[in-house]
Amino acid sequence: TVKVTKICCIGAGYVGGPTCAVIALRCPHVQVTIVDLNKARIDAWNSPDFKLPIYEPGLEDVVRKARDRNLFFSTDVDKGIQDADLIFVSVNTPTKKSGVGAGFAADLNYVELATRRIAAVATSNKIVVEKSTVPCRTAESMRTILEANSKPNCRFDILSNPEFLAEGTAISDLFKPDRVLIGSLQTLEGKAACSALAEVYANWVPADRILTVGLWSSELSKLAANAMLAQRISSINALSAICEATGANIDEVAHAVGFDSRVGPKFLRASVGFGGSCFQKDILNLVYLSESLHLPEVAEYWKQVVVMNEYQKRRFSKTVVDTLFNTITGKRIAVLGFAFKADTGDTRESPAITLIRDFQSEKALINVYDPQVEHEQIWADLTEASPSTPLASIQKQVSICSSALEACKNAEAVVIATEWKEFRDIDWEQVYKGMNKPAFVFDGRLLVDADKLRKIGFKVNTIGRGERM
Ligand code: NAI
Repeated sequence: TVKVTKICCIGAGYVGGPTCAVIALRCPHVQVTIVDLNKARIDAWNSPDFKLPIYEPGLEDVVRKARDRNLFFSTDVDKGIQDADLIFVSVNTPTKKSGVGAGFAADLNYVELATRRIAAVATSNKIVVEKSTVPCRTAESMRTILEANSKPNCRFDILSNPEFLAEGTAISDLFKPDRVLIGSLQTLEGKAACSALAEVYANWVPADRILTVGLWSSELSKLAANAMLAQRISSINALSAICEATGANIDEVAHAVGFDSRVGPKFLRASVGFGGSCFQKDILNLVYLSESLHLPEVAEYWKQVVVMNEYQKRRFSKTVVDTLFNTITGKRIAVLGFAFKADTGDTRESPAITLIRDFQSEKALINVYDPQVEHEQIWADLTEASPSTPLASIQKQVSICSSALEACKNAEAVVIATEWKEFRDIDWEQVYKGMNKPAFVFDGRLLVDADKLRKIGFKVNTIGRGERM
């Protein structure tokens, strides 16, 4: 069998960076080089004061320990490929914006370009590992491209090794994964490649958590896992609407339902809706796959998970407007949190973007505060969300603040869009004093103690609670 001593990872993003940094830390005998075409990103990974391009608790510590020991970041993609015996392809696979399958199918252009580059420059055998989330049977296309372009005496084995980390807890997820999934062809060579990768993980992952399956099962399992996780959120969110209408309490319902060991207590938290780069993209991908396979009922079933999520966001902004006496024109609203979840600076598909866009179209004034997201990112996201509005007009309505307290000053309402822990602990008495009255709090993340806030004087509206304000 092959012994892996040099790994290259193509794509230094939210997945490639943390995943391969942890491999480097846990396998000091393996040289790991992460390459990317984006020079600014690579420079940030290499920055002397560890100003890394992504925020993830524990990441800096891992990079400090391994960087320049056996972990390297480079823009020299070709050299990275040539030197390695195993190559992770961890490039982005966004939803296609135009052409066949627009709005649903995954854009595989980046995967294909990376694969073609491997074929073009490799001069020795390589194990090529799909790390990106891809539609079922992508490995087949990769293999065809590699084999059609390879040099003599150069063999490629393809593995699928989808990543299950969650942003915000990426490092602890990688240290202690629920499972590592490796898919391979069930040939002798395929199984040998699979063992070579399994051996890398075996440096820190218990053997019974390393699952080896067929290539197509592995690819589909990643889409299936994300679809089922998102489906749980949409299910609990659908129930939150019933709670609000009946006076039931979604926390109590989730607790009672989650006590059933077949359901389990995790990931049953109602919210303003899910965000992030993966859930929506991967479900739409599954919808597209189902349609391509002539399974329209299956496609329709999964599509509802996304439909429900859009409904939840819209429902929440409507509650804000309705509660503020049916108009928020000219009113100041503090939006706390812009990242799609706590403990990350990632804003892709963040519900905060939709909420702010809704408030903008109601002609409100909006103060935004997030402890991690860069200001430029906020402007870029808001511009993308309202493409026909020039940035200067957006900036007349939206201000970015440097603390929660500042954002809430002179506001009519506070909207909690991200479950950052610091929002629970802000000085709410102080916030109350600075706000116009009646002062409203809309908790889109079941984060704050509503009774405590009511004692201060706030009118509190919590997702999934039918109680009086
Ligand atoms: P990302 O956009 O943060 O990173 C991708 C990187 O690949 C970018 O820096 C880009 O410049 C680079 N790249 C693209 N084409 C390249 C090429 N030909 N050569 C060199 N570099 C190239 O994306 P992210 O979030 O890391 O996602 C990567 C994949 O992992 C996606 O397929 C995603 O669905 C999947 N995934 C993401 C998770 C997440 O939490 N973000 C979790 C699990 C899977």
